Amino acid sequence: MSRLDQLAAISESSKGLTRRYLTREHRRANDLVGSWMREAGMAVREDAVGNIIGRYEGESRGLPAVLIGSHLDTVVMAGRYDGMLGVVSGIECVRALDAENVRLSHAVEVVGFADEEGARFQSTYLGSRAITGRFDPDVLKRKDRDGINMGDAMREFGLDPARIGEATRDPENFLAYLEVHIEQGPVLESEGLALGSVTTVTTVTGANRLKVEIRGEPGHAGTVPMKKRHDALVAASECVLVVSEIAEASPNTVGTVGQLTIGGGGASNVIPGNVSLSVDIRAADDKVRWAAVTLFEESAAKIAERRSVQIDIDRVHEASSVNCAPWIIEQIDRVIVEQGGRPFRLPSGAGHDAAAMSDVTDVGMIFVRCRGGVSHCPTESIAEEDAVAGAHLLSNIVRNFRRQIVS
Ligand code: GLV
Ligand code: MN
Ligand code: MN
Repeated sequence: MSRLDQLAAISESSKGLTRRYLTREHRRANDLVGSWMREAGMAVREDAVGNIIGRYEGESRGLPAVLIGSHLDTVVMAGRYDGMLGVVSGIECVRALDAENVRLSHAVEVVGFADEEGARFQSTYLGSRAITGRFDPDVLKRKDRDGINMGDAMREFGLDPARIGEATRDPENFLAYLEVHIEQGPVLESEGLALGSVTTVTTVTGANRLKVEIRGEPGHAGTVPMKKRHDALVAASECVLVVSEIAEASPNTVGTVGQLTIGGGGASNVIPGNVSLSVDIRAADDKVRWAAVTLFEESAAKIAERRSVQIDIDRVHEASSVNCAPWIIEQIDRVIVEQGGRPFRLPSGAGHDAAAMSDVTDVGMIFVRCRGGVSHCPTESIAEEDAVAGAHLLSNIVRNFRRQIVS
């Protein structure tokens, strides 16, 4: 918990926690986490995309690894547990192995992924996808809100965009990927499970993110009659409502507009000529999600026609729903029972690096409950007992890995 507090102090803003990809704060977080990994007996390196990776060898050098990870980047005004809990839990597992001089029949690697949230460049799962070989070079051209493109930000950080391919790992390196994460929803708490309860994740929901650019016509707020306006913000407002309406009418679907920007900042006496907004659509079923995305795109085209504005939509992120490996789910359930808990399975509505890693290896996730189900905001909170239970569970799985794979 103290490590999570130390990480939370590394923030771009003095108020709240914001730590985006390739910032000075990313550098400081990697350095700090790297030092903890070294203290825990791991060999540490930063890979070509900025992931920080520690490796604890097994009985002999070069064995395939159980990979434990989560992300070190945050959303804007984040909580201190989303992502970081999984990284420090992994380090704790290895620290305990090292303290007891235990070498396993496999290696253990811990990774702090560089960019999962995509808060700076809308480049969700970037760190994990670089490892799986699915890094999309197109994102290098994307600009942040200050007009800095990712390629330049990488060079500034000390990385060479031409060498990103070197981050890709051979799937033979990995036996499985495990991630501890806060639940980010209210189910575990409302289940009334005892303190120190954790649960198994079954699926990670797929998602689309769209960037919507609306171009109307700026003008004087006092002189242009209502019928002659091409107000980009009015069109944007209709888009916001449509996202919500589509999601409400679609099964197990959620839709969010989390960013809305008036070009130039806007002024009270200027008709907005340029507005951009983000759209995030998720659904348990991939077909349902794509239907919702398509319906939004069609609706936006109608809004554009009716309001005589131009609406351009860029699909900036897509991830399919992913299942955690049944054999890992069973192992986690079994250990929960051994630890005196009640097994409980939950799908994840949030995205996780586990979803990206499932392209190359079997994945499993452990959820730790968070107070009030609150996440992606500074009031995110967890009980120490729950964090301890999550780390113990992870440790148990890692230490007994081979035995359990056989059974
Ligand atoms: C990541 O937290 C996401 O689900 O957007
Ligand atoms: Mn998050
Ligand atoms: Mn997260």
